[in-house]
Amino acid sequence: MKKLVVRPVARVQGAIEVPGDKSISHRSIMMGSLAYGTTKVKNFLISADCISTMKIFKSMGVGILQKGTELTIAGKGLNSLKPPKGRLDAGNSGTTSRIILGLLSGQPFTTFLSGDKYLRRRPMKRVVGPLSLMGARISGPDNANLLPLKIEGGKLHSITYRLPVASAQVKSALLLAGLFAEGTTTVIEPTPTRDHTERMFSAFHIPYTKSGSNICLSGPAKPFKARNIQVPGDISSAAFFIVAGLITPNSKLIIKNVGVNPTRTGILDVLKKMGGKIKLKLHKTGKGEEPIADIYVESSQLKAIEVDDEAIVPRMIDEFPVFAVAATQAQGTTVVKKAGEMKVKESDRILMMAATLKKMGANIQPTEEGWIIQGQTPLKGCTVSSGGDHRIAMSIAVAALIAQGPTTILDTENITTSFPGFESLLKKVAKR
Ligand code: S3P
Repeated sequence: MKKLVVRPVARVQGAIEVPGDKSISHRSIMMGSLAYGTTKVKNFLISADCISTMKIFKSMGVGILQKGTELTIAGKGLNSLKPPKGRLDAGNSGTTSRIILGLLSGQPFTTFLSGDKYLRRRPMKRVVGPLSLMGARISGPDNANLLPLKIEGGKLHSITYRLPVASAQVKSALLLAGLFAEGTTTVIEPTPTRDHTERMFSAFHIPYTKSGSNICLSGPAKPFKARNIQVPGDISSAAFFIVAGLITPNSKLIIKNVGVNPTRTGILDVLKKMGGKIKLKLHKTGKGEEPIADIYVESSQLKAIEVDDEAIVPRMIDEFPVFAVAATQAQGTTVVKKAGEMKVKESDRILMMAATLKKMGANIQPTEEGWIIQGQTPLKGCTVSSGGDHRIAMSIAVAALIAQGPTTILDTENITTSFPGFESLLKKVAKR
């Protein structure tokens, strides 16, 4: 089992770039595979999760060449996927498994989809339910709620579906199924979630409409042509360094080329409200393209905050673990509400962060939908397990920078699911 030992630092300093955005990387393969022609993807995230997506599409006959972080995808059109030889393996990747369920449901062949022991515990009903309403035939354990699933692809029909939970994965699965379904598929979001799928539809000239919280797509979609994709740095990865820069005294960091799509920047808004010195220098990007910025961070005295607005939760859903670390260093009581979705991520992040930060000396209480965190508390190094969750592992590594004594984080191999090179970037900016 891999472990990571992090020692306290005097400050963090430097200019870094984080790897490509995970959500956009997954979608670039999916869309490039369904397009007609050659899609080149630049700054693709070469991480275990995205490699799972790549392998799945390769096994369905798509030619994908990888050179460094550049991919060349030889798409042969919407109806070109071939039945794979064996079972499709999504590894640790919830995004891969959930979104491709939509795509697989519309194929004229049967597939079997599984994943690692962590993914096999995560709920799939949220996708399987609405897909079944579209005519998908999906079966598996716990009434098709758990992997491994059997997907008997076939004809789909459109539905109008109001998402019971704000989930970009479910939205994207339904939109991909909608490409193959007869009629107009309408997805209604309770609150906006990351819109990378919709932006890619626009980029690939797939017509859809968005009015208020309704997204409508007419199917079956017409063939669409390949195009090139530039993947920005992942704000979810940048968040670890942003918090590190804020809570470590005498620090100054620049994180370059980060994607700052407004559906993803909740963490910046909240940290700024807490008094975090964060500045953005926006790059010039074309209309409809993913916005990119260099992010400047300086150490700051943070003040506690209440996060209880439903709309903010999906905009920072993956950043809550590292946000909890920031809250331990904020003066006052930070309360997080309405973030119960954290329980069904790669681990139950509410309980995991509460247990690990408590062990490090923080005053943190888990609640049904978040935490109550009393700051500002000194942290102490100790031995903790990440529970196999990449974002827990990296969040604890950030806390360890300001702890007294070394922290040993156990079970850290999954860091590579989203952030290969995390450890060496952390070493690069850590000054003793
Ligand atoms: C993702 C959506 C989010 C997020 C996940 C990636 C995506 O999940 O937590 O890491 O790429 O669509 P939900 O949409 O289920 O909240």
